[in-house]
Amino acid sequence: MVELGQNLDTAARFLAEENVVAIPTETVYGLAGRIDSEKAIRKIFEVKNRPFTDPLIVHVADVPSVETLVTHFPPLARKLMEAFSPGPLTVLLPKSNLVSDLVTNGSPLVAIRIPNHPLTLELLRLVGKPLAAPSANPFGGISPTTAQHVQDGLGLKIPYILDGGACEVGVESTIIQIVGDDQIKVLRQGGIPEEELALFAELVREENPEKPMVPGSMLSHYAPAKPLFLATDSRTESLSPDTTGVLAFDSHLEGIPKANQILLSPSGNLKEAAQNLFQALHRLDSMPVESIVAVRLPEIGLGKAINDRIFRASKKRTV
Ligand code: TXA
Ligand code: MG
Repeated sequence: MVELGQNLDTAARFLAEENVVAIPTETVYGLAGRIDSEKAIRKIFEVKNRPFTDPLIVHVADVPSVETLVTHFPPLARKLMEAFSPGPLTVLLPKSNLVSDLVTNGSPLVAIRIPNHPLTLELLRLVGKPLAAPSANPFGGISPTTAQHVQDGLGLKIPYILDGGACEVGVESTIIQIVGDDQIKVLRQGGIPEEELALFAELVREENPEKPMVPGSMLSHYAPAKPLFLATDSRTESLSPDTTGVLAFDSHLEGIPKANQILLSPSGNLKEAAQNLFQALHRLDSMPVESIVAVRLPEIGLGKAINDRIFRASKKRTV
């Protein structure tokens, strides 16, 4: 059975043995392996049951550590990383040959971020190598925001979970690419709201949403085991109120027992809502309800990242 703890030496030892370890970050828990170990990288994909076509984010301790992983570090990328790191910002950059094709699925670009969690920052310094880490959930499932979620999802397959408590941000990092010298393309909505990035440079849209730059964004994701419907979906009309769970922002839905409903933030705070999102989905999955109805949040700030997760969760098993 998996061991849980806060022992950095134990975590570093498993990583040195080319094994994988679950690590806390401010966004969600990651499943980490050293980027210099092909064996560990392969094990990450195997444990998650994740296709190799879905590349991994590389985690480093500080901005100088980005240098050796890239062939070019555009000034705007550096400026944004310095402004938002450590924190929930991931930047796609041209990879150096220290990053294997296995990590990027053969892409010349590598996704890099500096996670804002004291235990993981200390672990990165102790290990002295970058760590590749996707979210520590079975592929397509709900992301883990506590060590318990990781244990429930992957506990039999990994040796150690570095327990850093509940994740403070609660949704994954915002993924961006620099276009030209001075534009930012947002490839995944996440913990840094677009509005904050727009203070630094012009934002441009992805031209071809059918074939996204970020392969993972194409798929249904973040899905609970139970069918999840958007509240606007007409199929919700035929659901029985007593066996329907609700995920809502700050107020209850009429006609469904309150005991079946989870409010992400009764005071209407988007930051709190993001923090609670995945925990709420995990709870709805274990409540005595058969299906879940989710109400979209205001499409501003962190609301965009939350709505993106709710939408993708609805893409699975709803037909
Ligand atoms: O907050 C986060 O970003 C968390 C924590 C653990 O750091 N990680 C995370 O990883 O969300 P994951 O694997 O669940 O999602 C990463 C996304 C995937 O959709 C993947 O396709 C995309 O990033 N990605 C990774 N490397 C890429 C690359 N080189 N080019 C394009 N997309 C990439
Ligand atoms: Mg994920």
